[in-house]
Amino acid sequence: MAIIAPSLLAADFGVLADAVSEVAGDADWLHIDVMDAHFVPNLTVGPPVVASLRRHTGMFFDCHLMMSDPGPYLEAFKQAGAGGCTVHVEVGRTGELLAQMRDLGLQAGLAANPDTPYEAVAPYLDKIDLLLLMTVFPGFGGQSFMGEVMGKVRMARQAIDERALPVHLEVDGGIDEDTGAVAAEAGADVFVAGTAIFGDDHPAEASRRLRKAVAGPRTA
Ligand code: DX5
Ligand code: ZN
Repeated sequence: MAIIAPSLLAADFGVLADAVSEVAGDADWLHIDVMDAHFVPNLTVGPPVVASLRRHTGMFFDCHLMMSDPGPYLEAFKQAGAGGCTVHVEVGRTGELLAQMRDLGLQAGLAANPDTPYEAVAPYLDKIDLLLLMTVFPGFGGQSFMGEVMGKVRMARQAIDERALPVHLEVDGGIDEDTGAVAAEAGADVFVAGTAIFGDDHPAEASRRLRKAVAGPRTA
């Protein structure tokens, strides 16, 4: 079953709770992009905003930590109501960070940039709940989907299936109905979409259309 995860990055930050309630009935997870102005050249939100949103919805919060040093903040995200946190493999200390997330009771996610090889994440597949393969370089919404990442998605899907691992395979960046279908065919099962959902005049309808587009049979 595909999971649709609207990215709040494309919503109006002045009325975030309204954005959440617009999609709550037609999406599964809420993707919250945390940027530290160091790992990526942009700055967004942290635990206080997650805690505020927690009071408005029961949705699963999928927190994508684009941070050079996420370790000291994991507990605060958990306390704020994050369901899962995803750290980037490029920042190092991966084993330590994944263990810390598991100890806190967070779903443990690992992300890789488009130019990071599959081999960098492969050793951690049995230590994570989610693998995020970025389909743009992180930092900004509204960029174009990088189809060349699909080879990596196929490799990950094959490994996950062969070993029957309980790991979600998420794609993030430039996902719309067309690119979502491409990623679904390659083996993704969690689809993050910012612009395609919150950039639409009717986010709930856009979310339903995306769900339909990615629902085709998987051939990977
Ligand atoms: C990019 C973020 C994405 C972003 C996707 O660094 O990780 O989650 O919101 O936005 P779109 O869907 O507009 O590419
Ligand atoms: Zn993201």
